[in-house]
Amino acid sequence: MDTWYAAHCGAARRYSARSLHTPQTALLMHHLTILTGASRGMGLAMAQQLLQADALLLCISRQTNSDLTEQAQRAGATLLQWPQDLNDGATAAAQLGTWLQALDPRTLASATLINNAGVIPALVPLSESAPADLAQALRVGLEAPMQLTAAFLGATRSWAVPRKVLNISSGLGRRAMASQAAYCAAKAGMDHFTRCVALDEALLANGAKVCSLAPGVIDTDMQLQLRSSDATRFPDQGSFAGLHAQGQLTSPADAARRVLAYLAREDFGKDAVGDVRG
Ligand SMILES: NC(=O)c1ccc[n+]([C@@H]2O[C@H](COP(=O)([O-])OP(=O)(O)OC[C@H]3O[C@@H](n4cnc5c(N)ncnc54)[C@H](OP(=O)(O)O)[C@@H]3O)[C@@H](O)[C@H]2O)c1
Repeated sequence: MDTWYAAHCGAARRYSARSLHTPQTALLMHHLTILTGASRGMGLAMAQQLLQADALLLCISRQTNSDLTEQAQRAGATLLQWPQDLNDGATAAAQLGTWLQALDPRTLASATLINNAGVIPALVPLSESAPADLAQALRVGLEAPMQLTAAFLGATRSWAVPRKVLNISSGLGRRAMASQAAYCAAKAGMDHFTRCVALDEALLANGAKVCSLAPGVIDTDMQLQLRSSDATRFPDQGSFAGLHAQGQLTSPADAARRVLAYLAREDFGKDAVGDVRG
């Protein structure tokens, strides 16, 4: 266990103790959210919108974001940012499980995991794809979300608070596209493992509500990558360029609002696979 991680596990224990023993904070029940890919794009916008005074937000991505730290301080929210490559989801999941076990669930009003981090590998036919590139897209987009979901559900299973898992999927998990085999496969896998987990959790007394949600088309680095790609290798490049040219991309802030509104719905989890567009 490295020094940095040990310090953050210590922070979880200190957080629990402080919440129980300080009169002011003991009254404030915190909403715990674990959010991957919050350093930029829609994940950053979700983090910004989640930073209320009653938030306990743990963000996981390779980069941390100093603006988020400042915003959390202004809002009086508790924010932790773990710099972690989700190419190694097993390490992230082990650390998450240990960290969750150090929390006192009596200080929490809810617990939510949002698997948002994703990556589009080189936009070329599968026959031209590099093995390492394919592995990374599947590890970050599918393996790590499964491992983090397993760690979250396992560590929180006895908690009495409402528990939710929101997996950020894509229309491309449901619709095939040339030169996108790994991304499409990761999102299709995400949809289907979420269906399976919904069945697992339905058997439990306080089973988690789970959903794999397509967030719409969002103006982020990912869209830039799609429309900047080589049209001779990626036949749909022009349609992504057109969406941008016609102003049809949702801003990260609007997309985040729609996703978080979906997460807050009374019937969240009724459908294991959903789309913010209805
Ligand atoms: N943009 C769209 O139109 C669109 C449409 C449908 C679905 N989605 C989905 O929505 C989610 C957010 O997309 P976005 O457009 O906001 O993406 P984005 O702007 O490219 O941001 C991706 C996020 O994932 C993190 N990430 C990437 N590789 C990682 C790794 N190896 N380890 C840890 N974190 C990693 C990045 O953080 P670091 O670089 O700091 O690691 C970043 O915070 C994704 O799951 C995407 O598939 C997007």
